Amino acid sequence: MTQANAAQLIDGKALAATIRTSVKAGVQQRLAQGLRAPCLAVVLVGEDAASKVYVGSKRKACEEVGFESRAYDLPVTVSQETLEKLVDQLNADPAVDGILVQLPLPAGIDTTRILERISPSKDVDGFHPYNIGRLAQRIPLLRPCTPWGVMKLLASTGTDIHGLHAVVVGASNIVGRPMSLELLLGGATTTVCHRFTQNLEHHVRQADIVIAAVGKAAFIPGDWIKPGAIVIDVGINRKADGSLCGDIEFDVAQYRASFITPVPGGVGPMTVACLMENTLFACNQFHS
Ligand code: GUN
Repeated sequence: MTQANAAQLIDGKALAATIRTSVKAGVQQRLAQGLRAPCLAVVLVGEDAASKVYVGSKRKACEEVGFESRAYDLPVTVSQETLEKLVDQLNADPAVDGILVQLPLPAGIDTTRILERISPSKDVDGFHPYNIGRLAQRIPLLRPCTPWGVMKLLASTGTDIHGLHAVVVGASNIVGRPMSLELLLGGATTTVCHRFTQNLEHHVRQADIVIAAVGKAAFIPGDWIKPGAIVIDVGINRKADGSLCGDIEFDVAQYRASFITPVPGGVGPMTVACLMENTLFACNQFHS
């Protein structure tokens, strides 16, 4: 029996390292001109284990590229008012270029009010309705990090995505929705599937590009992947044995896809690298 060739892995870890190197060069350029280093304020509320890991890698990346980073670790009991005052203070601080409030926030905090309070020019997550609206109108400024990172991963395959059918599985504010806007901007014919979608299998089987952002381990069977499709797995799920896996059944999908992202080492590092790029952009464009 002949075994199909495995897909080429898309190395997000390596591409992210290249982006961080270029951001680091951008910081050096500023310093050589006598300008200050960019500064990112990272706000973490509560003790969520995954959020702590993500925030840790964001702070480490700041250090690596030569940013100043400020840590605001607040208790789960923090009030809406205190959090809003912190955002106001960071908005008003001319030394701060980016404000990142790690999500999810605890129940009882109105996330929309917090995100809308962040100055759009410091919104390095790209979640403010102003920045989402700019992306929707094809005039992006600060772009949501994960979808933008996915676009860079797609570009790294050398594929022209114009006219290709991209199917996004998951319609969250953080990934699925802005992902669909990025794909439209990139010229893909874009379908968004979500919890009410009928016959998900039918949609996934049509896809030239599958982007899974569901948050459920191996949610998409590998044999749904159209032969030759590009597969991007945004999911990071922890299995009972402690190891990580994505939303797509990788072991099967890898023999059908042309390109596929691993988990870990695919999308995750790109989110952090794009955050660094956004912070440098905000610093250079809006705060210098
Ligand atoms: N939680 C999960 N992903 C993200 C992200 O990209 N930014 C923030 N702020 N919170 C998140």
